[in-house]
Amino acid sequence: MATPDRYGLIGHPVAHSKSPAIHGAFAAQTGQNLTYEHILAPLDGFVATMQIFIEQGGKGLNVTLPFKLEAHALADTLTARARMAGAVNTLKMADGQILGDNTDGVGLVTDIESNAGVTLSGKRVLLLGAGGAARGAILPILNARPTSLTLVNRSPDKANALASEFSAFGPIDASAFTALQGVFDVVINATSASLGNELPPVPAHVFGTTTLAYDMMYGNEPTVFLQFAKQQGAKTRDGFGMLIEQAAESFFVWRGVRPDTQKAFPELRASAT
Ligand code: ATR
Repeated sequence: MATPDRYGLIGHPVAHSKSPAIHGAFAAQTGQNLTYEHILAPLDGFVATMQIFIEQGGKGLNVTLPFKLEAHALADTLTARARMAGAVNTLKMADGQILGDNTDGVGLVTDIESNAGVTLSGKRVLLLGAGGAARGAILPILNARPTSLTLVNRSPDKANALASEFSAFGPIDASAFTALQGVFDVVINATSASLGNELPPVPAHVFGTTTLAYDMMYGNEPTVFLQFAKQQGAKTRDGFGMLIEQAAESFFVWRGVRPDTQKAFPELRASAT
């Protein structure tokens, strides 16, 4: 058998990541001959670590915290979605060039539409947060043609600036939490509040009984945001599906083959919790 192509996840820390299990499952399912490993880079050593990986023949990397901005800066070419996200989570080495891509936002939209079964077209969407996670989601959400996308952030200036930046791409506006009006069809938590078990100051009235409340974070227990949304009668979904779908999109960028995430999902979820 030919030597497998080498891929990995570069970050600091990385040991906790499920990505090797996910890509291992995808490779087994599609018959692709590859390996996928954790690559711990020192905080000041992203470029050097990546260069060694490339010199050794590495074909592609996923990039996680805190290196997504550095990866964006050093890629030779960027996809449109990576350029607008301002961050890169996928690097592909080919023909002596480094392509930078971002599959996070598409992973989110695919999970909402294909797995949760909620089409974004014609819907009112509310996005909480204005950091890197929110920024990466905006273009893929607008490409799914919602009626409106409202950004809301604790520091409203950041939401205003993001909404202006993306105004040419679709119907986007910004609001303060206290100024939000009415019910939304989809409410996505892209803040980092769940990491500290905190609830963003989102008013209860944004959730109706048909609202999908989505938290980009996931864990063994529902986040406080999802618990709050459920108390208001909303449907809830955590970010595990987004993790799988962004991985599937990276796999497709590298290999030109799309894994069947529906098949891989139950096995991966069971091993993650
Ligand atoms: P990431 O890359 O994960 O998006 P980030 O760029 O540090 O991380 O952004 C964190 C986001 O979570 C910001 O929108 C932040 O709001 P501020 O801009 O007002 O700081 C938001 N956030 C973090 N903790 C929060 C909390 N407890 N309640 C509401 N928003 C919170």
